Amino acid sequence: RTVYVNGEYLPETEAKVSIFDRGFLFADAVYEVTSVLDGKLIDFDGHAVRLQRSLDELEMASPCSKEDLLEVHRKLVELNGIDEGLIYLQVTRGSDGDRDFVFPSEDTPPSLVLFTQNKPGLADSPAAKKGAKVISIEDIRWGRRDIKTVQLLYPSMGKMMAKKAGCDDAWLVEDGYVTEGTSNNAYFVKNGTIVTRPLSNDILHGITRKAVLRMAQEAQMKIEERLFTIEEAQGADEAFTTSASAFVMPVIEIDGVQLGDGTPGPIARRLREIYLEESR
Ligand code: PDD
Repeated sequence: RTVYVNGEYLPETEAKVSIFDRGFLFADAVYEVTSVLDGKLIDFDGHAVRLQRSLDELEMASPCSKEDLLEVHRKLVELNGIDEGLIYLQVTRGSDGDRDFVFPSEDTPPSLVLFTQNKPGLADSPAAKKGAKVISIEDIRWGRRDIKTVQLLYPSMGKMMAKKAGCDDAWLVEDGYVTEGTSNNAYFVKNGTIVTRPLSNDILHGITRKAVLRMAQEAQMKIEERLFTIEEAQGADEAFTTSASAFVMPVIEIDGVQLGDGTPGPIARRLREIYLEESR
């Protein structure tokens, strides 16, 4: 793989970041994951805008312009021959060569790293045909989940708890209400109405969420943005999640309770189709 580090395209084995980098020492870094279908970037603009918002919220300097970022994305897709896959981008606050809780001086350059992940068959995924089983776990993450930071230890542990329980993913619950999935936004459908949690600092403002809700609206589907519990979702006709890495993923089971007939529901399947069609 050819990767990008601070202005250079290098073989992945030669790419290096300092051990003092604050992304490494403090998780002082933000990221984006953009999908690639037919060699084309999906919703690059949305990801670039959210990246800038994450940077602003953390008072972190932008490593380069949006145009330069687009150029790096395109070049990596080309150099690595990606037809279907993902591009991971990370900006860290960099380092002034020591470990200090206080941010380094403002002229310390941020660090920018990008790499591709080749995922042939991402759109035509067997996992999406089968649907995902989820467990629920307490949401003990920090309170600024709208900022896309690399503090992913708990989501990663949640995924492992799901695997150990023979499931695919976990939905996070705070004060009795579902916030989102470990790495996706969460929805259920009851009597034709799509229900999902409204945007706030409690969840990531998914780029796929925005696109899918717009498409659902255009398809005359009913949408309610409100809080919901696991029990309510368990009593739903169907459920699904959205993310750049899995698009629309049907959910067929929540904490051992099967939804509908235990296969992906019609609205989730339809939205996945519309999303893939419109994104291509
Ligand atoms: N995760 N919520 C969380 C906590 C996420 O980490 C993500 C994305 C989403 C969906 O956002 P979007 O539609 O913009 O991808 C919601 C990425 C894919 C990841 O960490 O790999």
